[in-house]
Amino acid sequence: MEKTRGAILLLLLVADFGFGAAQNATTGEAHGFHVGVILDLGSPVGKGARTSVLLAVQDFYAAHQNYSTKLVLHIRDSMGSNVRAASAAIELLKDYKVQAIIGPQKSSEAVFISNLGNVTQVPIVSFTATSPSLTSDSMPYFLRATLNDSAQVKSIASLVQAYGWREVVAVYEDTDYGRDILPYLIYVLQEIDVRVPYRSVIPLAATSETILQELNGLIARQTRVFIVHMSSTMTTLLFMKAKELGMMNKGFVWIITNGVANIIDSLNPSVLQAMNGVLGVRYYVPRSQELDDLSIRWNRMYQQDNPDASPFNKLNIVGLWGYDTTWVLAQAAENVGISSARNKQPWYIKNSTCLESMDISIKGHKLLTSIVQNKFRGLSGDFDLTDGRQLKVSVFQIINVVGRGWREIGFWNVKSGLSRELKQDYFKKTGPASMPDLNPVIWPGESTEKPMGWEIPTDGKKLRVGVYSSENPEFIKTYKDPVTKATTASGLSVDIFEEAVKRLPFPVSYDYIEFDTGDTATSGSYNDFVYQVYLQEYDIAVADTTIRYNRTLYVDFTVPYTESGVGMIVPVKENLNMDMWLFLRPLSTAMWFGSIIFFMYTGFVVWLLEYLKDNEHDPFSLEQLAITIFSIFEEKEELKHFLARIVLRVWRVVLLVLAASYTASFASMLTVQQLSPTVTDVHELQKNGEYVGFHQGSFVEGLLLGIDFDASKIRGYATPDDFYSALSNGSIAALVDEVPYIKLFLAKYNKGYTMVGPIYKSAGFAFALPKNSPLRAELSRAILNITGGETIIQFEKKWIGQNSHENDGTLDGSGAITFESFGGLFLLTGIVTTCSPLVAVLMRRYKKQQENAENKGDGQNESGPGQEKEKMEEQGDQNSNGQGLELMKSQTTLSMNACTHPR
Ligand SMILES: *[C@@H]1O[C@H](CO)[C@@H](O)[C@H](O)[C@H]1NC(C)=O
Ligand SMILES: *[C@@H]1O[C@H](CO)[C@@H](O)[C@H](O)[C@H]1NC(C)=O
Ligand SMILES: *[C@@H]1O[C@H](CO)[C@@H](O)[C@H](O)[C@H]1NC(C)=O
Ligand SMILES: *[C@@H]1O[C@H](CO)[C@@H](O)[C@H](O)[C@H]1NC(C)=O
Ligand SMILES: *[C@@H]1O[C@H](CO)[C@@H](O)[C@H](O)[C@H]1NC(C)=O
Ligand SMILES: *[C@@H]1O[C@H](CO)[C@@H](O)[C@H](O)[C@H]1NC(C)=O
Ligand SMILES: *[C@@H]1O[C@H](CO)[C@@H](O)[C@H](O)[C@H]1NC(C)=O
Ligand SMILES: *[C@@H]1O[C@H](CO)[C@@H](O)[C@H](O)[C@H]1NC(C)=O
Repeated sequence: MEKTRGAILLLLLVADFGFGAAQNATTGEAHGFHVGVILDLGSPVGKGARTSVLLAVQDFYAAHQNYSTKLVLHIRDSMGSNVRAASAAIELLKDYKVQAIIGPQKSSEAVFISNLGNVTQVPIVSFTATSPSLTSDSMPYFLRATLNDSAQVKSIASLVQAYGWREVVAVYEDTDYGRDILPYLIYVLQEIDVRVPYRSVIPLAATSETILQELNGLIARQTRVFIVHMSSTMTTLLFMKAKELGMMNKGFVWIITNGVANIIDSLNPSVLQAMNGVLGVRYYVPRSQELDDLSIRWNRMYQQDNPDASPFNKLNIVGLWGYDTTWVLAQAAENVGISSARNKQPWYIKNSTCLESMDISIKGHKLLTSIVQNKFRGLSGDFDLTDGRQLKVSVFQIINVVGRGWREIGFWNVKSGLSRELKQDYFKKTGPASMPDLNPVIWPGESTEKPMGWEIPTDGKKLRVGVYSSENPEFIKTYKDPVTKATTASGLSVDIFEEAVKRLPFPVSYDYIEFDTGDTATSGSYNDFVYQVYLQEYDIAVADTTIRYNRTLYVDFTVPYTESGVGMIVPVKENLNMDMWLFLRPLSTAMWFGSIIFFMYTGFVVWLLEYLKDNEHDPFSLEQLAITIFSIFEEKEELKHFLARIVLRVWRVVLLVLAASYTASFASMLTVQQLSPTVTDVHELQKNGEYVGFHQGSFVEGLLLGIDFDASKIRGYATPDDFYSALSNGSIAALVDEVPYIKLFLAKYNKGYTMVGPIYKSAGFAFALPKNSPLRAELSRAILNITGGETIIQFEKKWIGQNSHENDGTLDGSGAITFESFGGLFLLTGIVTTCSPLVAVLMRRYKKQQENAENKGDGQNESGPGQEKEKMEEQGDQNSNGQGLELMKSQTTLSMNACTHPR
């Protein structure tokens, strides 16, 4: 009944225009320009669009009375079916020889019709087909008087980025319209590092049940940000069901694409109420007086045409595009004119029953160019199809559905991104961290607090926390109740985890699951434990697990909750204060011996020089030698030979420096802590071929092997007690381990051991979570809050105990002065001392030669003390050269004398 009435009305309309054209034509004033219109007249958009097109024709010819052409519209209903739309197009082309087609409404319908348009060279102008897969390159006669869907994805991504959400779910209908936006959307989201962990595809024929099922699936996941890209009817259904399921409550985020946001005014207010809190992006149309006038006339006409339709349908952007499109087409028709010979050649598929009478439009190309080049300022904004034969946009409006309507919360434009005000050249960039420069949003559930964008699903599902009993029960120890099968855990790691969960800004309930090691708690089991997270056995792994490079390949870690690094436990040397030979400590053994040797040597040389000088002396006196040697410490200046004095001066300088250094070193030894490690360097151990221990199953083994430690020289131990007994019975010289374990060890066995290092870096202990888990950032923040405060100290006190050896790690070396460090000084004094006797001997030779020369000159008769002296000296020389044995003999007898008759 209603349908027939609609059809009659339609016929009347068509007839009216037809007659109008005919009448005008008969008077020679105007010619009919046949145009097909294909819309889904069952949909609100189609109904509104028809009104817009009809109104546009009216308005256009009212404004251009003297035009020689007049559009004759042939409106067809596609009823939302691709086949009907196609057959309507064929009929229009065949029977009415239409010069252009406005529509079709849907992207899927547009594919075939644009191909027909290409073949017959009839422009197809759609203001509703938005799928980005329809391009003017593959369909030269397809014009898009609207935006393609990919134009808006950047604005949606900006919105997601501005509110700092890390994951979104795409909810779309299973049609060309729904699917085609997805690659573009995912691409821009990836660019800003936002994941789309899953997608929800709603079939076109979805019933309430299927939608409910799909939504229940979404609730069970943790992401709470949904981007909805569906037709208005599907969107309506979706939000009604979401409201039923409580998905329009606090914590959820819904973003609608411009498909629905553009026509949001036309939605039923009850639907809008269900959609409260939804964000949307829409094409921005500035308000104007003309728009308001048009709106009034449009409403009147719409009510007349559809007396029984929904009263909520209002003139929207789609309607405006329809209006502008018709306007442009009418103008182009006038420009091109109506040709009398409009069919150039018959359709090439002659034998096809239906398509044979379709002709190629001769003016088609001209008409196309005319439409494309006709830029003007329409009611929808700048109407310009020159770029890619589609409209392009630079500004989107961001809206928030509130109450029975919506509010504007800002704008997005290509150049400057999001902003509160629409200003040209508004270049204030909003950083992702700061709050976006947008008006406040009322989120679903009337909340004004920005939703986090994810949630731990609370439908009875608890977080599965994997726990692993450590060899060090202080860190973590698990216990499984044999009756209730419930796992409990305790230890430092567990306390930190539980405290961190308490500090999360949302409640989280969890269950511990014990890691089943089998029987072999050996190497690699920590790797296996962490790997369970990757296998989705656990939502989080809690134990003394170290952050390692190859673990991060499949899991993410929180920030570490312990110190980091690898150090060495070594035995300390005995307490120096107990030592009666303490005074020897400041100098190394070599230094002591070196000094004594140099002292003796210098004394001897001094004595030698004196002896050589002193001719009147007895041949040799050991007593004199001893006296001379010890006199070098004194300040007496009785020495006769100037070389001896030089040697002595140099020696005294050395002595001065040595004494000062000794004092300083001794003083520092008595004041600093009296413990010092036996070894300070792992390479030292390696060089000496000592055995080194490590914690079995720890990565330290690989580390030691990595620095070319001999595999036979490293020994693995499982528990701190084993470390201790191995260290104390001397089977290893040192134990290399991670700093947290060392702290624990030292707290237990603080006597006799200390830490050296950290000698290597490592990242410390942390909890492992699945990759990209949104919980990681929150948990890390909570851990930082714990480790940065007093709580961690309390926990460490509780589990590890007071550690009085915290500063031991910085001790290095015994601090003794080594012979090498005085090498320069000793070299100096050695050279001077050694050279002096040589110089002395040379001087004597020289003197003797001179005297000999003098004697020869003076004659043989002269004899005096000079000659005597020379003889004596010659004798001395002989003594030192040839008669060493005799000298030795006399030396021994003299020393006997010295012993028996001390002074
Ligand atoms: C064409 O004829 C119709 C109906 O008589 C009339 O309303 C309209 O003004 C005419 N158009 C022109 C351009 O004269
Ligand atoms: C129609 O009239 C306008 C002036 O009202 C004139 O500028 C225009 O050229 C006319 N167009 C035609 C096709 O006669
Ligand atoms: C459009 O038509 C032209 C010839 O009329 C043809 O060469 C071209 O392949 C057609 N394009 C499509 C996409 O059908
Ligand atoms: C059309 O059909 C006739 C027979 O019905 C056949 O002879 C002719 O070759 C066909 N033409 C083409 C173009 O297929
Ligand atoms: C869609 O629109 C955007 C912006 O106007 C444009 O950059 C892009 O090339 C268009 N895509 C297609 C497939 O036409
Ligand atoms: C990680 O690296 C260590 C050596 O550094 C190796 O023993 C271990 O098997 C690796 N784990 C995985 C899961 O690749
Ligand atoms: C030292 O202790 C370790 C660990 O308990 C043990 O394996 C080793 O046999 C002991 N060595 C000696 C020499 O007693
Ligand atoms: C931990 O968080 C609380 C509450 O946000 C804050 O007051 C405190 O300063 C934080 N402590 C540290 C060490 O960051």
